[in-house]
Amino acid sequence: MPAYFEPFRIKAVEPLPMPNRAERAEALARAGYNVFRLRSAEITIDLLTDSGTGAMSAAQWAALMLGDESYAQATSFERFERIAAELTGCPFIIPVHQGRAAERILFTCLLAPGRISVSNTHFDTTRANVELLGATALDLPCRESNDLSSEAPFKGNLDLDRLDRLLTSPDSTRVAFVVMTLTNNLGGGQPVSLAHLREVRACCEAHDIPLLLDASRFAENAHLVSVREPEQRGRAPRAIAEEAFGLCDGAWASLKKDGLANIGGLIALRDPDLARRCQELLIATEGYSTYGGLAGRDLEALAQGLLEVTDPAYLSYRADSVRWLADTLARGGVPVVRPPGCHAVYVDAGALLPHIPPHEFPGQALACALYLEAGVRAAEMGSFGFARTNADGSLAPAAHELMRMALPRRVYTRNHLEYVAEALIRIAANRRALNGYSIVEQPAALRHFTATLEPIPALTPT
Ligand code: F0G
Repeated sequence: MPAYFEPFRIKAVEPLPMPNRAERAEALARAGYNVFRLRSAEITIDLLTDSGTGAMSAAQWAALMLGDESYAQATSFERFERIAAELTGCPFIIPVHQGRAAERILFTCLLAPGRISVSNTHFDTTRANVELLGATALDLPCRESNDLSSEAPFKGNLDLDRLDRLLTSPDSTRVAFVVMTLTNNLGGGQPVSLAHLREVRACCEAHDIPLLLDASRFAENAHLVSVREPEQRGRAPRAIAEEAFGLCDGAWASLKKDGLANIGGLIALRDPDLARRCQELLIATEGYSTYGGLAGRDLEALAQGLLEVTDPAYLSYRADSVRWLADTLARGGVPVVRPPGCHAVYVDAGALLPHIPPHEFPGQALACALYLEAGVRAAEMGSFGFARTNADGSLAPAAHELMRMALPRRVYTRNHLEYVAEALIRIAANRRALNGYSIVEQPAALRHFTATLEPIPALTPT
Protein backbone atom coordinates (compact mmCIF):
# COMPACT_ATOMS: atom_id res chain seq x y z
CA MET A 1 0.00 0.00 0.00
CA PRO A 2 1.27 3.53 -0.71
CA ALA A 3 1.81 5.80 2.32
CA TYR A 4 -1.41 7.53 1.37
CA PHE A 5 -3.79 7.72 -1.52
CA GLU A 6 -5.41 10.77 -3.16
CA PRO A 7 -9.16 9.95 -3.18
CA PHE A 8 -9.84 11.93 -6.36
CA ARG A 9 -8.72 12.11 -9.96
CA ILE A 10 -7.69 15.31 -11.72
CA LYS A 11 -9.98 16.96 -14.26
CA ALA A 12 -8.34 20.31 -14.93
CA VAL A 13 -4.62 20.98 -14.78
CA GLU A 14 -2.53 24.10 -14.46
CA PRO A 15 1.13 24.16 -15.59
CA LEU A 16 3.70 24.82 -12.85
CA PRO A 17 6.17 27.68 -13.34
CA MET A 18 9.72 26.30 -13.46
CA PRO A 19 12.17 29.18 -13.01
CA ASN A 20 15.83 28.09 -12.92
CA ARG A 21 18.16 28.83 -10.04
CA ALA A 22 19.53 32.06 -11.52
CA GLU A 23 15.99 33.30 -12.13
CA ARG A 24 15.01 32.38 -8.57
CA ALA A 25 18.02 34.21 -7.13
CA GLU A 26 17.10 37.29 -9.13
CA ALA A 27 13.43 37.11 -8.13
CA LEU A 28 14.31 36.74 -4.44
CA ALA A 29 16.64 39.75 -4.50
CA ARG A 30 14.02 41.80 -6.36
CA ALA A 31 11.42 40.76 -3.74
CA GLY A 32 13.64 42.07 -0.94
CA TYR A 33 14.03 38.52 0.45
CA ASN A 34 10.36 38.57 1.45
CA VAL A 35 8.48 35.65 -0.14
CA PHE A 36 5.18 37.57 0.07
CA ARG A 37 6.64 39.88 -2.57
CA LEU A 38 7.44 37.09 -5.05
CA ARG A 39 5.17 36.85 -8.09
CA SER A 40 3.17 33.61 -8.17
CA ALA A 41 4.48 33.09 -11.73
CA GLU A 42 7.93 32.68 -10.13
CA ILE A 43 6.84 29.89 -7.78
CA THR A 44 6.90 26.17 -8.54
CA ILE A 45 5.14 24.84 -5.41
CA ASP A 46 3.24 27.36 -3.29
CA LEU A 47 2.85 26.38 0.35
CA LEU A 48 2.43 29.94 1.65
CA THR A 49 -1.11 29.23 2.85
CA ASP A 50 -3.97 26.74 2.74
CA SER A 51 -6.40 29.68 2.62
CA GLY A 52 -8.43 30.09 -0.56
CA THR A 53 -5.87 28.04 -2.48
CA GLY A 54 -7.70 24.71 -2.69
CA ALA A 55 -9.11 22.95 -5.75
CA MET A 56 -12.88 22.78 -6.01
CA SER A 57 -14.65 19.53 -6.86
CA ALA A 58 -16.59 18.90 -10.07
CA ALA A 59 -19.77 19.21 -7.97
CA GLN A 60 -18.67 22.65 -6.74
CA TRP A 61 -17.89 23.85 -10.26
CA ALA A 62 -21.28 22.57 -11.38
CA ALA A 63 -22.96 24.35 -8.46
CA LEU A 64 -21.50 27.66 -9.62
CA MET A 65 -23.91 27.61 -12.56
CA LEU A 66 -26.80 27.51 -10.11
CA GLY A 67 -25.64 30.77 -8.55
CA ASP A 68 -28.62 33.07 -8.05
CA GLU A 69 -27.31 36.60 -8.25
CA SER A 70 -30.47 38.25 -6.90
CA TYR A 71 -29.55 41.04 -4.53
CA ALA A 72 -31.86 39.93 -1.73
CA GLN A 73 -33.20 36.54 -0.58
CA ALA A 74 -31.42 34.61 -3.34
CA THR A 75 -32.02 30.85 -3.49
CA SER A 76 -28.22 30.39 -3.27
CA PHE A 77 -28.33 32.04 0.16
CA GLU A 78 -31.21 29.78 1.21
CA ARG A 79 -29.15 26.70 0.35
CA PHE A 80 -26.03 28.03 2.08
CA GLU A 81 -28.06 29.04 5.14
CA ARG A 82 -29.78 25.66 5.43
CA ILE A 83 -26.54 23.67 5.10
CA ALA A 84 -24.61 25.92 7.52
CA ALA A 85 -27.48 25.91 10.04
CA GLU A 86 -27.72 22.10 9.92
CA LEU A 87 -23.97 21.80 10.52
CA THR A 88 -23.67 24.38 13.31
CA GLY A 89 -27.09 24.06 14.92
CA CYS A 90 -27.21 27.86 14.91
CA PRO A 91 -30.37 29.41 13.45
CA PHE A 92 -28.77 32.69 12.37
CA ILE A 93 -26.27 32.37 9.50
CA ILE A 94 -24.53 35.50 8.25
CA PRO A 95 -22.35 35.23 5.11
CA VAL A 96 -19.17 37.30 4.88
CA HIS A 97 -16.41 37.50 2.30
CA GLN A 98 -13.72 36.00 4.57
CA GLY A 99 -12.79 35.25 8.16
CA ARG A 100 -11.47 38.65 9.18
CA ALA A 101 -14.69 40.34 8.03
CA ALA A 102 -16.54 38.03 10.43
CA GLU A 103 -14.12 38.96 13.18
CA ARG A 104 -14.54 42.69 12.62
CA ILE A 105 -18.33 42.52 12.56
CA LEU A 106 -18.74 40.18 15.51
CA PHE A 107 -16.17 41.92 17.69
CA THR A 108 -17.56 45.38 16.94
CA CYS A 109 -20.83 44.11 18.44
CA LEU A 110 -19.20 42.40 21.44
CA LEU A 111 -16.07 44.33 22.44
CA ALA A 112 -15.24 47.79 23.78
CA PRO A 113 -12.04 49.41 25.07
CA GLY A 114 -10.82 47.64 28.22
CA ARG A 115 -12.60 44.33 27.52
CA ILE A 116 -10.68 41.05 27.19
CA SER A 117 -10.95 38.31 24.57
CA VAL A 118 -9.50 35.03 25.88
CA SER A 119 -8.37 32.24 23.55
CA ASN A 120 -6.26 29.10 23.25
CA THR A 121 -4.44 31.31 20.69
CA HIS A 122 -5.82 34.20 18.66
CA PHE A 123 -4.91 33.97 14.98
CA ASP A 124 -3.11 37.16 13.90
CA THR A 125 -6.13 38.77 12.20
CA THR A 126 -8.27 37.79 15.20
CA ARG A 127 -5.84 39.52 17.55
CA ALA A 128 -5.65 42.56 15.24
CA ASN A 129 -9.45 42.92 15.19
CA VAL A 130 -9.63 42.65 18.99
CA GLU A 131 -6.89 45.24 19.44
CA LEU A 132 -8.35 47.63 16.84
CA LEU A 133 -11.33 47.97 19.18
CA GLY A 134 -9.10 48.90 22.13
CA ALA A 135 -9.64 45.49 23.76
CA THR A 136 -7.00 42.97 24.90
CA ALA A 137 -6.38 39.59 23.25
CA LEU A 138 -5.16 37.15 25.90
CA ASP A 139 -3.74 33.78 24.78
CA LEU A 140 -3.85 30.96 27.33
CA PRO A 141 -2.39 27.96 25.44
CA CYS A 142 -1.99 24.73 27.40
CA ARG A 143 1.43 23.97 28.84
CA GLU A 144 2.09 21.01 26.52
CA SER A 145 1.91 23.33 23.52
CA ASN A 146 5.24 24.90 24.45
CA ASP A 147 7.16 21.66 23.87
CA LEU A 148 7.35 21.47 20.08
CA SER A 149 8.64 17.91 20.05
CA SER A 150 6.15 16.33 22.47
CA GLU A 151 3.59 13.94 21.01
CA ALA A 152 0.76 15.17 23.28
CA PRO A 153 -2.35 14.69 21.13
CA PHE A 154 -4.27 17.89 21.92
CA LYS A 155 -1.76 20.71 22.14
CA GLY A 156 -4.49 23.06 20.84
CA ASN A 157 -6.27 22.96 24.22
CA LEU A 158 -6.12 25.97 26.49
CA ASP A 159 -4.81 26.17 30.04
CA LEU A 160 -7.99 25.54 32.04
CA ASP A 161 -6.38 26.39 35.39
CA ARG A 162 -5.39 29.83 34.13
CA LEU A 163 -8.84 30.36 32.60
CA ASP A 164 -10.47 29.40 35.88
CA ARG A 165 -8.15 31.73 37.82
CA LEU A 166 -8.91 34.59 35.44
CA LEU A 167 -12.65 34.03 35.70
CA THR A 168 -12.54 34.02 39.51
CA SER A 169 -10.32 37.14 39.65
CA PRO A 170 -11.50 40.79 39.72
CA ASP A 171 -10.56 40.94 36.00
CA SER A 172 -13.36 38.50 35.17
CA THR A 173 -15.84 41.35 34.68
CA ARG A 174 -13.68 42.53 31.77
CA VAL A 175 -13.80 39.19 29.93
CA ALA A 176 -16.17 39.56 26.98
CA PHE A 177 -15.91 35.98 25.66
CA VAL A 178 -13.69 32.94 25.25
CA VAL A 179 -12.68 31.90 21.70
CA MET A 180 -11.48 28.41 20.91
CA THR A 181 -9.55 28.31 17.62
CA LEU A 182 -10.10 24.95 15.87
CA THR A 183 -7.45 23.89 14.97
CA ASN A 184 -4.95 26.17 16.65
CA ASN A 185 -3.19 27.56 13.57
CA LEU A 186 -0.52 29.68 15.25
CA GLY A 187 0.03 26.93 17.81
CA GLY A 188 1.22 24.52 15.08
CA GLY A 189 -2.18 23.45 13.72
CA GLN A 190 -2.84 21.45 16.86
CA PRO A 191 -6.36 20.20 17.63
CA VAL A 192 -8.67 20.76 20.59
CA SER A 193 -10.27 17.66 22.12
CA LEU A 194 -14.01 17.35 22.49
CA ALA A 195 -13.68 16.52 26.19
CA HIS A 196 -11.67 19.72 26.65
CA LEU A 197 -14.22 21.77 24.74
CA ARG A 198 -16.92 20.43 27.10
CA GLU A 199 -14.81 21.52 30.09
CA VAL A 200 -14.27 24.99 28.63
CA ARG A 201 -18.03 25.17 28.01
CA ALA A 202 -18.76 24.24 31.65
CA CYS A 203 -16.27 26.84 32.88
CA CYS A 204 -17.79 29.56 30.66
CA GLU A 205 -21.30 28.60 31.72
CA ALA A 206 -20.37 28.73 35.40
CA HIS A 207 -19.15 32.30 34.93
CA ASP A 208 -21.79 33.33 32.42
CA ILE A 209 -19.23 34.08 29.68
CA PRO A 210 -20.09 33.32 26.02
CA LEU A 211 -18.03 30.63 24.27
CA LEU A 212 -17.22 31.28 20.62
CA LEU A 213 -15.47 29.08 18.06
CA ASP A 214 -13.09 30.23 15.36
CA ALA A 215 -14.14 27.22 13.29
CA SER A 216 -12.03 27.88 10.20
CA ARG A 217 -10.64 24.29 10.32
CA PHE A 218 -13.56 22.61 12.12
CA ALA A 219 -13.51 19.49 9.92
CA GLU A 220 -9.78 18.94 10.33
CA ASN A 221 -10.18 19.33 14.10
CA ALA A 222 -13.02 16.78 14.03
CA HIS A 223 -10.90 14.32 12.07
CA LEU A 224 -8.00 14.61 14.53
CA VAL A 225 -10.46 14.08 17.41
CA SER A 226 -11.77 10.95 15.67
CA VAL A 227 -8.27 9.43 15.52
CA ARG A 228 -6.67 10.78 18.71
CA GLU A 229 -9.37 10.96 21.38
CA PRO A 230 -10.01 7.45 22.74
CA GLU A 231 -13.73 8.07 23.50
CA GLN A 232 -14.31 9.45 20.00
CA ARG A 233 -12.25 6.94 18.05
CA GLY A 234 -13.93 5.96 14.80
CA ARG A 235 -16.83 8.39 15.21
CA ALA A 236 -17.86 10.25 12.04
CA PRO A 237 -16.08 13.63 11.78
CA ARG A 238 -19.39 15.22 10.85
CA ALA A 239 -20.98 14.07 14.14
CA ILE A 240 -17.96 15.32 16.10
CA ALA A 241 -18.10 18.69 14.34
CA GLU A 242 -21.83 19.00 15.07
CA GLU A 243 -21.23 18.26 18.74
CA ALA A 244 -18.42 20.86 18.90
CA PHE A 245 -20.65 23.52 17.35
CA GLY A 246 -23.39 22.49 19.77
CA LEU A 247 -21.18 23.52 22.71
CA CYS A 248 -20.72 27.14 21.61
CA ASP A 249 -22.85 30.26 21.78
CA GLY A 250 -21.68 31.34 18.38
CA ALA A 251 -18.99 30.71 15.80
CA TRP A 252 -17.29 32.23 12.82
CA ALA A 253 -15.17 30.68 10.12
CA SER A 254 -12.96 31.60 7.24
CA LEU A 255 -14.50 29.27 4.66
CA LYS A 256 -11.37 29.70 2.54
CA LYS A 257 -10.16 26.71 4.56
CA ASP A 258 -12.76 24.07 5.45
CA GLY A 259 -15.39 25.61 3.16
CA LEU A 260 -13.24 24.16 0.33
CA ALA A 261 -13.72 27.34 -1.69
CA ASN A 262 -11.54 30.22 -2.83
CA ILE A 263 -13.40 32.94 -0.94
CA GLY A 264 -16.04 33.17 1.79
CA GLY A 265 -16.78 33.08 5.47
CA LEU A 266 -19.65 32.93 7.91
CA ILE A 267 -20.92 33.95 11.32
CA ALA A 268 -23.27 31.48 13.03
CA LEU A 269 -25.24 32.69 16.05
CA ARG A 270 -27.96 31.60 18.46
CA ASP A 271 -28.79 35.00 19.96
CA PRO A 272 -31.34 36.85 17.76
CA ASP A 273 -30.41 40.26 19.13
CA LEU A 274 -26.68 39.80 18.45
CA ALA A 275 -27.51 38.43 14.98
CA ARG A 276 -29.61 41.51 14.22
CA ARG A 277 -26.80 43.85 15.27
CA CYS A 278 -24.26 41.92 13.17
CA GLN A 279 -26.61 42.00 10.18
CA GLU A 280 -27.01 45.76 10.50
CA LEU A 281 -23.25 46.22 10.44
CA LEU A 282 -22.93 43.74 7.59
CA ILE A 283 -25.41 45.70 5.48
CA ALA A 284 -23.59 48.96 6.17
CA THR A 285 -20.09 47.62 5.45
CA GLU A 286 -20.11 44.37 3.44
CA GLY A 287 -23.39 43.83 1.62
CA TYR A 288 -26.98 42.81 2.16
CA SER A 289 -27.56 40.16 4.81
CA THR A 290 -28.16 37.38 2.27
CA TYR A 291 -24.89 37.80 0.37
CA GLY A 292 -22.43 39.62 2.68
CA GLY A 293 -19.94 40.59 -0.01
CA LEU A 294 -20.09 37.29 -1.91
CA ALA A 295 -21.57 36.40 -5.29
CA GLY A 296 -24.50 33.97 -5.34
CA ARG A 297 -22.24 31.44 -7.09
CA ASP A 298 -19.73 31.68 -4.23
CA LEU A 299 -22.50 30.75 -1.79
CA GLU A 300 -23.32 27.70 -3.95
CA ALA A 301 -19.67 26.56 -3.99
CA LEU A 302 -19.45 27.05 -0.22
CA ALA A 303 -22.66 25.14 0.49
CA GLN A 304 -21.35 22.20 -1.54
CA GLY A 305 -17.90 22.51 0.09
CA LEU A 306 -19.40 22.33 3.58
CA LEU A 307 -21.06 19.04 2.61
CA GLU A 308 -17.86 17.56 1.12
CA VAL A 309 -15.32 18.60 3.73
CA THR A 310 -16.36 16.11 6.41
CA ASP A 311 -15.97 13.13 4.03
CA PRO A 312 -13.81 10.68 6.04
CA ALA A 313 -11.83 9.58 2.93
CA TYR A 314 -10.92 13.16 2.12
CA LEU A 315 -9.97 14.01 5.72
CA SER A 316 -7.85 10.85 6.13
CA TYR A 317 -6.01 11.62 2.91
CA ARG A 318 -5.39 15.18 4.06
CA ALA A 319 -4.08 14.21 7.49
CA ASP A 320 -1.99 11.37 6.02
CA SER A 321 -0.37 13.66 3.46
CA VAL A 322 0.65 16.16 6.15
CA ARG A 323 1.93 13.35 8.37
CA TRP A 324 3.85 11.77 5.48
CA LEU A 325 5.62 15.05 4.75
CA ALA A 326 6.40 15.68 8.43
CA ASP A 327 7.72 12.14 8.99
CA THR A 328 9.80 12.17 5.80
CA LEU A 329 11.38 15.46 6.83
CA ALA A 330 12.05 14.26 10.37
CA ARG A 331 13.76 11.11 9.03
CA GLY A 332 15.88 13.34 6.81
CA GLY A 333 17.11 15.43 9.75
CA VAL A 334 14.66 18.36 9.54
CA PRO A 335 13.09 19.07 12.97
CA VAL A 336 9.31 19.51 12.73
CA VAL A 337 6.58 20.37 15.25
CA ARG A 338 5.02 17.19 16.62
CA PRO A 339 2.55 15.68 16.26
CA PRO A 340 1.67 16.87 12.74
CA GLY A 341 -1.79 18.38 12.38
CA CYS A 342 -3.93 18.49 9.25
CA HIS A 343 -3.18 21.65 7.30
CA ALA A 344 0.55 22.31 7.50
CA VAL A 345 3.97 21.09 8.49
CA TYR A 346 5.78 23.49 10.81
CA VAL A 347 9.57 23.25 10.62
CA ASP A 348 11.45 24.21 13.79
CA ALA A 349 13.87 26.60 12.11
CA GLY A 350 15.26 27.67 15.50
CA ALA A 351 16.39 24.09 16.18
CA LEU A 352 17.63 23.53 12.61
CA LEU A 353 19.63 26.77 12.47
CA PRO A 354 20.96 27.41 16.00
CA HIS A 355 23.75 29.58 14.55
CA ILE A 356 21.15 32.17 13.41
CA PRO A 357 19.81 34.14 16.41
CA PRO A 358 16.08 35.07 16.56
CA HIS A 359 16.74 38.70 15.60
CA GLU A 360 18.32 37.45 12.36
CA PHE A 361 15.16 35.43 11.59
CA PRO A 362 16.05 31.73 11.15
CA GLY A 363 12.53 30.99 9.79
CA GLN A 364 12.95 33.63 7.12
CA ALA A 365 16.44 32.36 6.28
CA LEU A 366 14.98 28.90 5.77
CA ALA A 367 12.06 30.18 3.67
CA CYS A 368 14.49 32.08 1.41
CA ALA A 369 16.77 29.05 1.13
CA LEU A 370 13.83 26.81 0.21
CA TYR A 371 12.72 29.17 -2.53
CA LEU A 372 16.25 29.49 -3.86
CA GLU A 373 16.79 25.73 -3.78
CA ALA A 374 13.53 24.59 -5.32
CA GLY A 375 11.09 27.43 -6.07
CA VAL A 376 8.97 26.40 -3.06
CA ARG A 377 7.24 29.17 -1.10
CA ALA A 378 6.60 28.75 2.64
CA ALA A 379 5.76 31.22 5.41
CA GLU A 380 7.97 32.39 8.26
CA MET A 381 6.26 32.12 11.64
CA GLY A 382 8.82 33.41 14.06
CA SER A 383 10.39 36.69 15.10
CA PHE A 384 10.06 38.29 11.67
CA GLY A 385 6.26 37.97 11.71
CA PHE A 386 5.50 37.60 15.39
CA ALA A 387 8.06 39.44 17.51
CA ARG A 388 6.24 40.80 20.57
CA THR A 389 6.38 44.42 21.69
CA ASN A 390 7.67 44.92 25.24
CA ALA A 391 6.18 47.53 27.58
CA ASP A 392 9.09 49.87 26.70
CA GLY A 393 8.37 49.54 22.97
CA SER A 394 11.35 47.26 22.23
CA LEU A 395 10.79 43.92 20.49
CA ALA A 396 11.01 40.54 22.23
CA PRO A 397 11.55 37.44 20.08
CA ALA A 398 8.61 35.20 19.22
CA ALA A 399 8.12 32.11 21.37
CA HIS A 400 9.37 29.85 18.55
CA GLU A 401 11.18 30.28 15.24
CA LEU A 402 9.09 28.30 12.75
CA MET A 403 8.56 28.01 9.04
CA ARG A 404 5.10 26.83 8.00
CA MET A 405 4.46 24.82 4.87
CA ALA A 406 0.67 24.85 4.45
CA LEU A 407 -0.86 22.38 2.03
CA PRO A 408 -3.56 23.76 -0.26
CA ARG A 409 -6.53 21.36 -0.29
CA ARG A 410 -6.61 18.73 -3.09
CA VAL A 411 -3.92 20.56 -5.11
CA TYR A 412 -0.52 18.85 -4.88
CA THR A 413 0.21 15.14 -5.31
CA ARG A 414 2.69 13.06 -3.37
CA ASN A 415 5.32 13.59 -6.07
CA HIS A 416 5.14 17.30 -5.41
CA LEU A 417 5.58 16.76 -1.69
CA GLU A 418 8.53 14.43 -2.33
CA TYR A 419 10.15 17.19 -4.33
CA VAL A 420 9.62 19.61 -1.41
CA ALA A 421 10.96 17.13 1.14
CA GLU A 422 14.08 16.36 -0.89
CA ALA A 423 14.88 20.06 -1.27
CA LEU A 424 14.52 20.74 2.47
CA ILE A 425 16.57 17.70 3.39
CA ARG A 426 19.37 18.93 1.10
CA ILE A 427 19.22 22.34 2.81
CA ALA A 428 19.33 20.73 6.27
CA ALA A 429 22.41 18.72 5.30
CA ASN A 430 24.15 21.97 4.41
CA ARG A 431 22.57 24.12 7.12
CA ARG A 432 25.81 25.92 8.10
CA ALA A 433 25.78 27.64 4.69
CA LEU A 434 22.65 29.59 5.66
CA ASN A 435 22.96 33.12 6.99
CA GLY A 436 20.53 35.38 8.81
CA TYR A 437 18.74 38.46 7.50
CA SER A 438 18.31 42.05 8.60
CA ILE A 439 15.43 44.36 7.82
CA VAL A 440 15.96 47.13 5.27
CA GLU A 441 12.50 48.72 5.35
CA GLN A 442 9.38 47.88 7.32
CA PRO A 443 5.85 49.23 7.81
CA ALA A 444 4.50 50.23 11.24
CA ALA A 445 2.48 47.01 11.67
CA LEU A 446 2.23 43.46 10.24
CA ARG A 447 5.71 43.84 8.82
CA HIS A 448 6.08 40.31 7.45
CA PHE A 449 3.67 41.07 4.60
CA THR A 450 5.64 43.91 3.03
CA ALA A 451 9.02 44.53 4.72
CA THR A 452 12.22 44.15 2.70
CA LEU A 453 15.33 42.42 4.01
CA GLU A 454 18.93 41.72 3.09
CA PRO A 455 21.22 38.78 3.84
CA ILE A 456 23.80 39.09 6.64
CA PRO A 457 26.56 39.67 5.77
CA ALA A 458 25.08 41.72 2.93
CA LEU A 459 26.39 40.34 -0.33
CA THR A 460 28.91 42.71 -1.80
CA PRO A 461 28.17 43.52 -5.44
CA THR A 462 30.73 41.99 -7.79
N1 F0G B 1 -8.80 32.37 11.86
C1 F0G B 1 -7.86 31.45 11.57
C2 F0G B 1 -7.60 30.34 12.53
C3 F0G B 1 -7.11 31.57 10.39
O1 F0G B 1 -6.17 30.65 10.12
C4 F0G B 1 -7.39 32.64 9.51
C5 F0G B 1 -6.62 32.79 8.27
C6 F0G B 1 -8.39 33.56 9.85
C7 F0G B 1 -9.08 33.39 11.03
C8 F0G B 1 -8.71 34.74 8.98
O2 F0G B 1 -9.42 34.33 7.87
O3 F0G B 1 -7.92 34.89 5.94
O4 F0G B 1 -10.35 34.38 5.62
O5 F0G B 1 -9.67 36.51 6.67
N2 F0G B 1 -5.57 32.16 8.02
C9 F0G B 1 -4.77 32.18 6.79
C10 F0G B 1 -3.50 31.40 6.99
C11 F0G B 1 -4.57 33.53 6.20
O6 F0G B 1 -2.63 31.47 6.10
O7 F0G B 1 -3.36 30.69 7.98
P1 F0G B 1 -9.33 35.07 6.45
